[in-house]
Amino acid sequence: MYRRVIRPLLFSLDEEQSHALSEYVLHAPFVWKGFGIQSKIGATSLSTTVAGVKLPSPIGLAAGYDKNCRVLKSLIDLGFGFVCGGTVTLAERSGNPPRRMVRLAESSAILNSLGFPGQGLGRILPRAARLGRYRSRVFVSISGSIEDEIAECYRQFAPLVAGIELNISSPNTVGLRVFHDPARLRALVEQLRKIGDSRTPLLVKLPPWSHEADERRVALALAETAVNAGADGLVIANTIPVEDSRLKVGKGGLSGSPLLDNTERMTAEVAALVGRHASVVSCGGISRADDVWRMFAAGASAVQLYTAMVYEGPALPSRLSRGLLELMEVAGARTLSDISGPPPY
Ligand SMILES: Cc1cc2nc3c(=O)[nH]c(=O)nc-3n(C[C@H](O)[C@H](O)[C@H](O)COP(=O)(O)O)c2cc1C
Repeated sequence: MYRRVIRPLLFSLDEEQSHALSEYVLHAPFVWKGFGIQSKIGATSLSTTVAGVKLPSPIGLAAGYDKNCRVLKSLIDLGFGFVCGGTVTLAERSGNPPRRMVRLAESSAILNSLGFPGQGLGRILPRAARLGRYRSRVFVSISGSIEDEIAECYRQFAPLVAGIELNISSPNTVGLRVFHDPARLRALVEQLRKIGDSRTPLLVKLPPWSHEADERRVALALAETAVNAGADGLVIANTIPVEDSRLKVGKGGLSGSPLLDNTERMTAEVAALVGRHASVVSCGGISRADDVWRMFAAGASAVQLYTAMVYEGPALPSRLSRGLLELMEVAGARTLSDISGPPPY
């Protein structure tokens, strides 16, 4: 139904219009429970713990889909185990000029150069305060280029959500690169850890890296720095920086299927380095149950996705949970931590 009817309709609009339409439709809260019922959420074998947060399923929605935290409850009702709202910045931002999103349908990918358009902390916070029983499954992504602005976002959101994701890795916001310097990142994470009672789990979302030795060494040093400074988990990773003249600003981030193999490799590298001290959440190109399996086999505790939702539609989170359960049954895996090696089919 989604592929035959709804997707062609959405894809006849430009990328931002179709996103706005799906967000509008998600405002009807109860409609979406129907999708979630199929998700097998509640099956104990799907439960996982990320950065100390117990979750009923390892399938999460990545940051960027609901930047202003308007429809997080409906997104959970679709069957996600957890969702990440934002990225939220302290002040309202208009982002980069359009065109700033391009669908690459032939490779199930998206290019974006949005650059954090969002309403800002003040307008978004009241929505987080109304999460009620959904709160235990909501993370919020925060960012900025000035430490004190990020700290203010952390201070205000931390009591309202299950965890905070610190985004230092969007390729579309130049100022973020300052936190790719390990000393700056260490100081920032340490600053956040001192705020309030600091029990709210903190994930750091890193930029991706290639298999090239120098790049890998720098990236893994950053991962280690974040964890040593007090991060409870790492999200691996953000979009891949690319240049493309179809985007008005000439460059942006690539997401979707082309990222998958790199995500698996990075997950394995980070899990080998810090997996005993921090949770690893794999993000990039995940669209099928066997992709989720591969991430767990590489050392992940959960996965996040965004682009596959655009191509596969609202039944995707349920389809992935059911598919993962089937794979586990065939392989005789009783819990997610039993997953190892290649998927059974
Ligand atoms: C249109 C778009 C907007 C995004 N906005 C954000 C964002 O605000 N913050 C963030 O951390 N990641 C953002 N991302 C990156 C995703 O969270 C994710 O890391 C990336 O898309 C890779 O996952 P995927 O291949 O499943 O989409 C965005 C991605 C897309 C496609």
